[in-house]
Amino acid sequence: MSHHTPHTTGTDDVAALPLADRAALGSGKNFWQTQDAGDVPSITLTDGPHGLRKQTGGVDHLGLSGSAPATCFPPAAGLSQSWDPDLVERIGAALADEAQAADVQVVLGPGVNITRSPLGGRNFEYYSEDPHLTGVLGTAWVTGLQSGGVGASLKHFALNNQETDRMRVSADVDQRPLHEIYLRAFRRIVEDARPWTVMCSYNAVNGVPVRHSRELLTDILRDEWGFDGVVVSDWGAVGGRLRSVAAGLDLQMPSDGGAADEEVVRAVSNGQLDEQTVTVAAQRVAALARRATAARREVSLDDATVEAHHALAREAAARSIVLLKNDEADGRHILPIAASGVTGSVAVIGPFAETSRYQGGGSSHVNPTRLDSPLELIKDRLAAPVTYAAGFTTDGSGRHSGLLAEAVEDAANADIAVVFLGLSPDQESEGFDRTDLALPAEQLGLLRAVRAVQDRVVVVLSHGGALDLTEVTELAPAILDANLLGQGGGAGIADVLTGEVNPSGKLAGTVPARLADTPAFLDFPGEHGHVRYSEGLFVGYRWYDARNLRVAYPFGHGLSYTTFAYDEAYGQPDDDGDGITVTVGVTNTGRRAGREVVQAYVSVPDSGQVRAPKVLAGFGSVTLEPGEREEIEIHLGRRDLEYRDVRSGRFVLEPGRYVVHLGSSSRDLRASVEVDLEGEDVRVPLTLESTLGEALAVPAVAEALGGFLGGLTGEDSGDGLGVDMAKMMASIPLDRIITFSGGSVTREQLEELLERVNG
Ligand code: BGC
Repeated sequence: MSHHTPHTTGTDDVAALPLADRAALGSGKNFWQTQDAGDVPSITLTDGPHGLRKQTGGVDHLGLSGSAPATCFPPAAGLSQSWDPDLVERIGAALADEAQAADVQVVLGPGVNITRSPLGGRNFEYYSEDPHLTGVLGTAWVTGLQSGGVGASLKHFALNNQETDRMRVSADVDQRPLHEIYLRAFRRIVEDARPWTVMCSYNAVNGVPVRHSRELLTDILRDEWGFDGVVVSDWGAVGGRLRSVAAGLDLQMPSDGGAADEEVVRAVSNGQLDEQTVTVAAQRVAALARRATAARREVSLDDATVEAHHALAREAAARSIVLLKNDEADGRHILPIAASGVTGSVAVIGPFAETSRYQGGGSSHVNPTRLDSPLELIKDRLAAPVTYAAGFTTDGSGRHSGLLAEAVEDAANADIAVVFLGLSPDQESEGFDRTDLALPAEQLGLLRAVRAVQDRVVVVLSHGGALDLTEVTELAPAILDANLLGQGGGAGIADVLTGEVNPSGKLAGTVPARLADTPAFLDFPGEHGHVRYSEGLFVGYRWYDARNLRVAYPFGHGLSYTTFAYDEAYGQPDDDGDGITVTVGVTNTGRRAGREVVQAYVSVPDSGQVRAPKVLAGFGSVTLEPGEREEIEIHLGRRDLEYRDVRSGRFVLEPGRYVVHLGSSSRDLRASVEVDLEGEDVRVPLTLESTLGEALAVPAVAEALGGFLGGLTGEDSGDGLGVDMAKMMASIPLDRIITFSGGSVTREQLEELLERVNG
């Protein structure tokens, strides 16, 4: 790189750099670092996001070569089950410390794509099927990380909802689901947490590769949401750079050895590419590099910090476990073990008990500083004798009768059996999607055999994406969903099993009854480079609710070792009419302290728009001692109440009655309150192509056309005919009235009327 008179930290010095240097700032220096030029420093970007993956040996983006040890917090799919933004923010801050210690300036996360299908191969890296939950938790993560002077890279923007054909497939989606479901979390995080970078995804949207999409990278991201950071490509997403730069991409990663930089210089020289665009991109990269460099801190990852981060990973793991089911046996709940009346031994079964499945495969694969074994910690925390048998293998080699017999014998001799089931690491990874929801047959066979000799059976599940739990639910009286919990998962599981921690996690995705019931079933993963998002707005619970489908476990579900009662709810609009505040009293009616996540879902029963029966618009939590009561206040903001109006191309708060349901899950609603919002009417200018129905909704037109219409529909003749006529007429375009009126209404009259009412 050539060197230039050092300048201030402004951007003018970047504009003064030779074109070759400005072009070079738009691509990497190598696999993980940006280019330096003039006095613009180079910075390091590194994968995560649930821990740092700073590679030590060779570089690759698939997580195959080794990386330095780092705390492995729960991956997004596990962590989201905590419904706890404060916890997520603390994890972000801890990650910043680890990044600072490793001299890393940007961590490549969070992944905030919506889990459109439970088969999505990277679902374990994403938070939820719901955009509100994703947006709130993603905001917390970015806020925590950036508070430590390390930048986030919000990814994968946008609609990277599957792995099949991921570098090319076009997600073909309508405008409302695009904005209301798939872009919504990105918008919230950009507006509230101001991430330093956004990562442009590999795929295309509605036929246009995102890297070429000015609409996404500039019109929506920058102009509509006010993003002022750097748009970086996913690794290897960019082929030809010119169109990407023109669309709003600032930084192509990783380095291609300089070929694209030369292409950019040539294109500017021959007038193909506007020089100013190249300069602006270089200025953005320079601003990022300077800001990140200025925020560098001395942090040492001494033993005490590693220990403290491990303790945080354990706390997060325990907080993220969902108690799916906890039936009674002999008049007592099966869990927690310490209170269930168990006096004899505990049979622990399944290889995941020894080495838990704690993260998924691919670029987010972290090399943990420590790894808790559930088995060791169960032994540690229980006074009762604990036996262990594998029962099956996770290498796909099928049923092993010897292993099975040993496990069954243990179960028969014990007071309770804890069976660890789940997907093996090679079943879930970046790069491919799953093809079904089933647990391996040998695992279900083992569970059946154990259940035949033991009534008290607890199943602990390890997996990223949703599983078919039909048979597990039939067989096991108690089930813990341990999802993927990071390096502290073993302790978290032991804490919840024994009762040290009272579980409070809630599902962040529906567990469907059958794959065929899932929203994207008929359109996933698409064909010939296209996948049609035919379910529209009806993603996740929005679909199961709209179709009134039975599910195995609903979105938001999660039991506790205590119980909670909800009082009547109150609600009122904000002073400016933009949002709603709801309040409800919650009482701990059981015998243990516990935390309840209170969920607020909104319905607009008289809406004129297509809407899901209810959508999550807010949540909060209360932690209560037995008998204690507290009021919780939840604010629902305008962004969570609006719909995207396709006629006007913007978000609109519809006037009318909003019903807010407060519940313990999406299908366990305990209280509701109605609030009227003034909202805003969308006035679309009337044309001769407008329908009579649309025109009559405008009072001045109704009045002007009233007499004529009365004659035509015959008003209500008493036999209901008039009413039907009016309905039929509602869909007639205005200019057709000229014909239907036999000429008594003229085009000139209509045009004059329209001019008057359109103003
Ligand atoms: C993944 C990104 C990752 C990048 C760098 C890509 O293949 O999609 O999530 O950050 O590689 O490893």
